[in-house]
Amino acid sequence: MNIIEIINKKRLGKILSEEEIAYAVNGYLSGEVKDYQMSSLLMAIVLKGLTDHEIITLTTIMLNSGEKLDLSSLGTVVDKHSTGGVGDKTTLIVAPIVASCGGRVAKMSGRGLGHTGGTIDKLESIPGFQVALDEKTFLNQVKTIGLAVVSQTSNLVPADKKIYALRDVTGTVESIPLIASSIMSKKIASGAKKLVIDVKVGKGALIKTLKDAQKLAKLMIQIGASHGIEVVCILSNMDIPLGNNIGNALEVKEAMEVLQGKTGHLTDLCIEIATQMVHLDLNISTKEAKKLVQKNIANGNAYHKFLEFVGAQGGNISNLPQSTYQYEILSKKSGFIDTIDALLLGNLSMHLGAGRLNLNDKLDYGAGIILNKKVGDKVEVGDTLMTLYTSKELNPQEISTESFLITDNPPKENPLIYQIME
Ligand code: URA
Repeated sequence: MNIIEIINKKRLGKILSEEEIAYAVNGYLSGEVKDYQMSSLLMAIVLKGLTDHEIITLTTIMLNSGEKLDLSSLGTVVDKHSTGGVGDKTTLIVAPIVASCGGRVAKMSGRGLGHTGGTIDKLESIPGFQVALDEKTFLNQVKTIGLAVVSQTSNLVPADKKIYALRDVTGTVESIPLIASSIMSKKIASGAKKLVIDVKVGKGALIKTLKDAQKLAKLMIQIGASHGIEVVCILSNMDIPLGNNIGNALEVKEAMEVLQGKTGHLTDLCIEIATQMVHLDLNISTKEAKKLVQKNIANGNAYHKFLEFVGAQGGNISNLPQSTYQYEILSKKSGFIDTIDALLLGNLSMHLGAGRLNLNDKLDYGAGIILNKKVGDKVEVGDTLMTLYTSKELNPQEISTESFLITDNPPKENPLIYQIME
């Protein structure tokens, strides 16, 4: 067997055998298959696709490339995943809600890259917060308080780590088979047998259309079933940022506001995700689960669970960082906010210091954006559209307001949740 034959076979749209997929993946991990050969194979997969059977095989081979976490000592545990968005702080909100309802969440999360943020960066913006717990401490914390969130270890699916880094720089990220196997190999390795995935659809997301989101969700549910994992996918709108705050400490602040009763789209989505997680974890109907979720937000239990979780991992929530400068960006037009471009704001937030272009870039944890207006709001010339937080000196006049599309008429409402698939 050789890699050139495998590349040519896929280039012609033929089906690869298990041995051929294993040869390519394991050979790439060992260094025998070179970057340029793997990127050529990945591009052939992007163009010709993979059958469902090839996708399940690829997922299993990637999964077996590293360590797997054994959560069986915890009983039933539920995990969640988001395919990535701007202002997506849902883990910080739903994990304490689920734990306050009596569920158990043992979660491994990642860092952000490019315009999307990562949960681990958000948690690390809390002074003292420890994201690297050893396995025993991690499991004990879940047993005692119902939740723990840690950073992914380097030994979890190393094949995905190496392949994802290559995809990122070779234009091969946006392939549904590759996304499905990448996400599911990591989720299966993380050990939970119940999983809720928030599949983001829209301008600020990896997946731009509902049709593609449905395809991805169907595949992930199928891969989950082949490994004994119950998967529910929530297909949700990511045309506009989620909530008002973008940037690490700013998102922690907004998560606390939601847990203390703030209403809006972000809260609605978190209630839906938490409902599905509680439904799977406690094996109760979604109707009962939603009631329990709403009760535990209203009575403050979810917020107290958040404080307990932050304290257990060494964080000092009363001391969140703030960047040196604040700049208000004013509207140059009057009318109605028709849309807010999540991708442009994600990039702006990254340039303010909240995100990284390269994995080794240092973050300014206090940096980011607070949106002062939301879709549908009426604005006048001179109203504040957004406030920028940064440690860089800027001229606010030079900041573009093109991320806010302002029109003469109020926009029609887009759904927040398109579909739930299981
Ligand atoms: N997130 C992942 O973990 N992998 C992908 O391929 C895309 C999004």
